[in-house]
Amino acid sequence: MRITLRFVGVLLVVSACARPNPEMQQALGETVYAAYCQSCHEAPGTGPRLTPAILASRLTADRLYTYNQQQMPYDAGGILSNEDYLNVTAWLLYRASLIESNKMLTMRNMDEITLIVTETSPAQ
Ligand code: HEC
Repeated sequence: MRITLRFVGVLLVVSACARPNPEMQQALGETVYAAYCQSCHEAPGTGPRLTPAILASRLTADRLYTYNQQQMPYDAGGILSNEDYLNVTAWLLYRASLIESNKMLTMRNMDEITLIVTETSPAQ
């Protein structure tokens, strides 16, 4: 019995550490961005700069996600996993200060996240 409880305790600790968190999501999203988006969206690429105002023009996080998922990378929409699209969308929003750094973007909450440019958003 004692051994079993200890085993369960270890499992709980391990699963708590591995639990997805906003920092991990943003870091994963940044990796996706660097590999699949940056070449076009940073000068001298062919894509527009992804400024806070441009991102916010999609109005909600789920619309931005859907756009990315269906249209990006340009002419190759849908090539990434849904999780990669979620993470890269979260990272774009975090970088533009459109979501708090401690906010996890999920399939469930993204339609409730409205995108509003504030004075603290970076100009980019
Ligand atoms: C091959 C170049 C290329 C790559 C790679 C690329 N994009 Fe784009 N992106 C574009 C172009 C060109 C546009 C403008 C499309 C249009 O106006 O129809 C665009 C538009 C966008 C927009 C909308 C901007 C606006 O004006 O509303 C977003 C958001 C976006 N891209 C995100 C991404 C993300 C996220 C990735 C990586 C998963 C990515 N893009 C990869 C070329 C690219």
